[in-house]
Amino acid sequence: MLKTRIAVFVSGGGTNLQALLDAQSAGAIPSGEIVLVLSSSASAYALTRAKEAGVPTVVCPPKDFFSRDAFETALLEALDAHHVQMIVLAGFMSILSGAFTTRFPERIINIHPSLIPAFCGSGFYGLHVHEAALSYGVKVTGATVHYVNEIPDGGKILLQKAVEVRPGDTPEVLQRRVMEQAEWLLLPQATELVAKRIQEEEASL
Ligand code: GAR
Repeated sequence: MLKTRIAVFVSGGGTNLQALLDAQSAGAIPSGEIVLVLSSSASAYALTRAKEAGVPTVVCPPKDFFSRDAFETALLEALDAHHVQMIVLAGFMSILSGAFTTRFPERIINIHPSLIPAFCGSGFYGLHVHEAALSYGVKVTGATVHYVNEIPDGGKILLQKAVEVRPGDTPEVLQRRVMEQAEWLLLPQATELVAKRIQEEEASL
């Protein structure tokens, strides 16, 4: 069977992209292949990680386009050019419209660094999520992989993993623990789950 063609969308450091690339090399994503890394920022270190792994890259900064429509049209062109069937948002900091997400129903997944429905939705991204968790005083946080629809962090949940908050944690320390103990494990697992389902759907057409 043909492998599901995957694009990973990034904006920053790309440690989750690295976890996916490492999982792919280790044979842990047998149903999919990362064929494109698309970054919303030209300076994202994630681009270096992609290049080192020999994966084609595209840079698409939203501010370079006069409207969200024009930005998303450019995204779709890049995806078409690489025959992408599935999208993984791995620290992608732009919100995608319903017009975009409905083109890939249950074929876009996102990793979020909290246990949804806590600390999610608009304004909750990156370190802000961990700042909010610490200031609320929760004793357990974690990560969630969910399908992406038109509601920010609102799609159906695929996988979650809890992570302990420890006394004295700073947002940075907590972020690192959530990445190590949850995100870098969950995202490759969820990617394989969805890639396998898509592969089977395509084979039965
Ligand atoms: C990760 O913690 C990811 O969960 C989070 O941004 C970080 C990106 O790190 N995503 C969100 O907050 C999305 N709402 P990375 O670039 O090293 O993978």
